[in-house]
Amino acid sequence: MIKYVDQLDLAGKRVFMRVDFNVPLDDAGKITDDTRIRAALPTIQAALGKKAKLILGSHLGRPKGVDPKFTLEPAAQRLAELLKKDVTLADDCIGDGVKKRVSDMKDGDVLMLENLRFHKEEEANDPEFARELAANCDVYINDAFGTAHRAHASTAGMVKFVNTKGAGLLMKKEIEYLGQLLESPKRPFVAVLGGAKVSDKIKVLENLTTKVDAFLIGGAMAYTFLKAMGVDVGKSRVEADKLEVANRILKTAAERKVEVYLPRDHVVAKEPKADAERKTIDTQPIPADWMGLDIGPRTIELYRQTIRNAKSVLWNGPMGFFELEPFAAGTRAVAQAMADNKDAITVVGGGDSAAAVEQMGFASKMKHVSTGGGASLEFIEGIKLPGIAALEQ
Ligand code: 3PG
Repeated sequence: MIKYVDQLDLAGKRVFMRVDFNVPLDDAGKITDDTRIRAALPTIQAALGKKAKLILGSHLGRPKGVDPKFTLEPAAQRLAELLKKDVTLADDCIGDGVKKRVSDMKDGDVLMLENLRFHKEEEANDPEFARELAANCDVYINDAFGTAHRAHASTAGMVKFVNTKGAGLLMKKEIEYLGQLLESPKRPFVAVLGGAKVSDKIKVLENLTTKVDAFLIGGAMAYTFLKAMGVDVGKSRVEADKLEVANRILKTAAERKVEVYLPRDHVVAKEPKADAERKTIDTQPIPADWMGLDIGPRTIELYRQTIRNAKSVLWNGPMGFFELEPFAAGTRAVAQAMADNKDAITVVGGGDSAAAVEQMGFASKMKHVSTGGGASLEFIEGIKLPGIAALEQ
């Protein structure tokens, strides 16, 4: 059982909250997407409403030691704007300076620690480092679903050194939506899977084959499946060493009577460039010097219908090279069909598909858009995430 922030007594307590403020920055260090910071607000506000002394810990990027490029300063500033309240940024996450700042905190104050990964001990899950982090708090709360697949000091190691532990409201929402789909989905349950590589999705496909009624497959990974079935796919991206795996997945799906839909027509181009010569082809095979970069209109219609009739839809991975507008129609159509199906539980896995729905303006129309890329994939693979396991009472 996991306790959530609303069930914990936090008044006057020093609360360490692990958040995932690993947000994208541009070259000038400006945040280009603050979704993850906004997603943590309900838990932060709940803790502040309970008069906690709130200490926030996060990583940003993959720095090798202290590197000003990866400071959490922009995140602390953005949080202060959103909360309309001062957020102090400490210059480290452990040490005497932090200790002093924590002892000076008043109820309702917010202290953001500097990037946890400035210490290599964070990723190494070093017990001494974990103990030092834990020494500054009375309560541990994890709301960093996006980092829950990492067994690091701040997500796993420190938890055993704190008496009271629990999860935040974002973590709760992620566990409930993704968990419901895996444990008791409303049917028909359709998984829309895309992206570049079959190899990234093998375990997802294997786990979901035991749960879904149908797969809709798009993106470059579709060409590995088509090739495995003996279809010529021209210059399309194929993982030659995954043809056997693709065949095995198709065979298992057939045995379990899970429908697997693959693209029937394609938007093809000579090169993966917006201004490359392109056309729509209505039949297989794809001619030798062309590559498939999006699903075609007939496939879009088929996928749209299937999504429309579903009661649960889980989407992970774009249908084409959506970053380039000429190849974005398939991805947009899937997002639109999910948004239109108001009766279904519609869940978008993190990473590229979350970025696509955000960019295309559909995010608020989904029942849930996961804030975890790797974390949501591993959750769907059926793996018990260390950051969640550590919270079990
Ligand atoms: C993510 O962006 O997926 C999480 O913040 C985890 O980051 P990591 O892949 O660098 O561990």
